[in-house]
Amino acid sequence: MRVGVVGVGGMGNVHARKYALMPDVELYAYDRNPDRLDVYCAQFGARPLGSLSELVSGVDAVDVCTPTDAHHDVAMAAIEGGKAVLVEKPMARTPEECASLISAAAKKGVPLMPGQVVRFFPEFAAAHQAVVSGRVGKPAAVRMRRGGKAPKGSDMWFQDHARSGGLLLDLAVHEFDWMLWTLGDVRSVYSRSVRLGHPVEGAEFEGDYALTTLQFESGCVGHVETTWMDPSGFRVTLEVCGSEGMIEYDSRSVSTLRIHDAAGSRSESNLSPTHDPFYCELRAFVDAVSSGSAMPVAPEEGMKAVAVSRAAIESAKSGRAVSPLEV
Ligand SMILES: NC(=O)c1ccc[n+]([C@@H]2O[C@H](COP(=O)([O-])OP(=O)(O)OC[C@H]3O[C@@H](n4cnc5c(N)ncnc54)[C@H](O)[C@@H]3O)[C@@H](O)[C@H]2O)c1
Repeated sequence: MRVGVVGVGGMGNVHARKYALMPDVELYAYDRNPDRLDVYCAQFGARPLGSLSELVSGVDAVDVCTPTDAHHDVAMAAIEGGKAVLVEKPMARTPEECASLISAAAKKGVPLMPGQVVRFFPEFAAAHQAVVSGRVGKPAAVRMRRGGKAPKGSDMWFQDHARSGGLLLDLAVHEFDWMLWTLGDVRSVYSRSVRLGHPVEGAEFEGDYALTTLQFESGCVGHVETTWMDPSGFRVTLEVCGSEGMIEYDSRSVSTLRIHDAAGSRSESNLSPTHDPFYCELRAFVDAVSSGSAMPVAPEEGMKAVAVSRAAIESAKSGRAVSPLEV
């Protein structure tokens, strides 16, 4: 399969490393920054294409790794060209943009998948399975936490709320998606956020730390802590409490390898390179496109997670609980 990555920054690099492990994938790429595109193609053996339209006509599937504000237009160009599309999370900036992609993809009959990668982390997949199969009984409360240092991206776009949606869209969408997948629909969302770092011009809400509570239709309560102000680096936690038991996960307590060398200190997985959430996500997309089967994550699910993020933003701005159906 010829896969074309659009946007060869941080995530475009992560995806290329995973496609490189797939002998049945030929990689193509386009980025509006030609220098970055050249370096990327040399590093990963991808074929550079000079424009989005050239890329769309030259591949079988398009993988959208641009900043979030470009997701809608890039994915729409791919859909209009009749190509299968994977869009990095969040699927788009608003539920309206998501709905526009969903209806265009349905009309054209092309597969569309949002890159909600947390579903492909072995621990989160196993925790989901344990909850839906009743191992903790009736879920009562779920607490999730994700945070690290503020991301910069290629031109500080993460800090521009108009482009990224800030941390309640960019980061918390991971937790909102896992919770919706595992616990069902959300009735209302209440979020409080504070800024501890430098003020951000044009910010939609004050936020490099946010605490969001979710009331699920099932009666379960969700609690999501999201921060771009954690000086200790990236950390993710999960706790599910139910009538018959409890599940806990902390990304700091898994047995990754800690490597210290000239490039700095980092954690590396001690599992095989194909036992990796991004590999599993991209492999599942490629396999579903090849076999014509349903997308592993439906686009409607990507849209629901974006709607919960938007409700959280609206709540942080207004100070009231907001239904995802209102946004
Ligand atoms: N799944 C995850 O865990 C995860 C982690 C980080 C980022 N992301 C998502 O991945 C996406 C990309 O983030 P990133 O960190 O790679 O950003 P980045 O800034 O590192 O890279 C973006 C690249 O897109 C290029 N670009 C911008 N607009 C373009 C356009 N219209 N057409 C072609 N190229 C364009 C830029 O030149 C840049 O090379 C975002 O939606 C982000 O939310 C997901």
